[in-house]
Amino acid sequence: MLQHRLGALAFSLVSVATFLLCSCARSRSANDSSPGSEPFFTPAHPTVANAVKEFLGWRATPIQPIAFPHNKHIANGIACMVCHTGVSKGPVAGIPSDKLCMRCHEFLASDRAEVKKVAGYFNSGLDVPWQRVYGFSPSAHVKFNHAPHIRAGVDCSRCHGDVTNMTVAVRAVQINMGFCLGCHRAQQASTDCVTCHF
Ligand code: HEC
Ligand code: HEC
Ligand code: HEC
Ligand code: HEC
Ligand code: HEC
Repeated sequence: MLQHRLGALAFSLVSVATFLLCSCARSRSANDSSPGSEPFFTPAHPTVANAVKEFLGWRATPIQPIAFPHNKHIANGIACMVCHTGVSKGPVAGIPSDKLCMRCHEFLASDRAEVKKVAGYFNSGLDVPWQRVYGFSPSAHVKFNHAPHIRAGVDCSRCHGDVTNMTVAVRAVQINMGFCLGCHRAQQASTDCVTCHF
């Protein structure tokens, strides 16, 4: 009896682990796929599990390969745009390459364990495999653009929380359609479906 129960427990743990692994792999490949791979805007989901997950707003918490401290950099006067160079120019803010990190860290704090990891990737010619924190479900066919927001003076913290106090970025703001529309109505920005959907 006990053995049977333990067996069942082990089985459900394996199922949960498989589910988590699959969803991670799926959300990662979803991020990699270029937008517009499906020709129409449809709220359809590839699987039932995927539909349930999105309905509940469930996303795995990313685990970063390096304990990157946003707080220490910002406290040293390094502006967001030094690293997220695309943010005022177009849709994508961008994640910096390890080449940029090494401009400072070839000598600076180069004895620290987490900085050695950066050098390790750099010296092997690899990019640091950062995990995405924000993003939309591909089935929602959202097109977002940073630049008009930065031009209109919308602060990063409105959409990303207080990154100045974070180490690695955490999803401090639940960005969904209600969140976008609420501000667009308040600031008389467009609420036309095609402004945000393709
Ligand atoms: C109006 C809301 C909003 C504002 C303001 C905003 N962001 Fe974002 N940001 C988003 C959304 C939404 C995403 C996810 C976009 C996606 O996955 O297509 C994102 C993604 C990112 C990413 C991940 C890489 C990328 O570009 O997709 C970085 C880095 C980022 N933002 C940095 C910033 C910084 C720095 C600022 C301020 C200078 C800022 N953001 C202002 C909404 C915002
Ligand atoms: C413009 C210079 C600059 C750039 C570019 C830069 N850093 Fe830093 N970094 C700093 C400074 C300054 C500190 C604080 C050092 C201290 O506390 O002594 C720091 C600290 C760190 C630390 C903490 C070290 C510790 O254990 O105290 C890590 C990890 C780190 N940086 C990783 C990165 C990564 C990864 C990148 C690229 C995405 C990067 N840095 C880009 C200047 C920079
Ligand atoms: C200001 C931007 C914005 C506008 C305008 C907007 N949406 Fe959205 N919509 C979003 C965002 C963001 C999401 C959520 C994406 C996510 O959670 O991954 C979303 C999600 C949706 C979804 C759910 C899709 C899914 O698979 O979960 C539907 C359906 C939808 N929008 C339809 C519409 C329609 C119809 C209109 C016009 C009346 C509209 N939207 C206008 C930003 C917008
Ligand atoms: C020294 C470089 C550096 C600076 C300065 C910096 N960031 Fe980042 N940022 C990173 C790195 C590296 C990552 C990837 C690791 C992570 O997610 O924390 C990242 C990730 C992010 C993400 C999550 C992107 C996603 O969806 O995966 C957001 C949002 C973000 N940064 C916002 C900001 C804001 C806002 C500021 C200024 C207050 C800022 N960053 C300053 C290097 C930097
Ligand atoms: C805190 C306020 C705020 C939030 C939140 C916000 N926006 Fe905006 N958005 C604006 C403002 C202000 C503009 C600029 C309007 C202008 O230039 O006339 C804008 C412009 C845009 C534009 C460009 C419209 C055009 O006509 O070129 C798009 C696309 C857009 N937003 C999508 C989104 C999406 C998608 C979200 C949610 C992920 C979002 N916005 C969240 C305030 C916001």
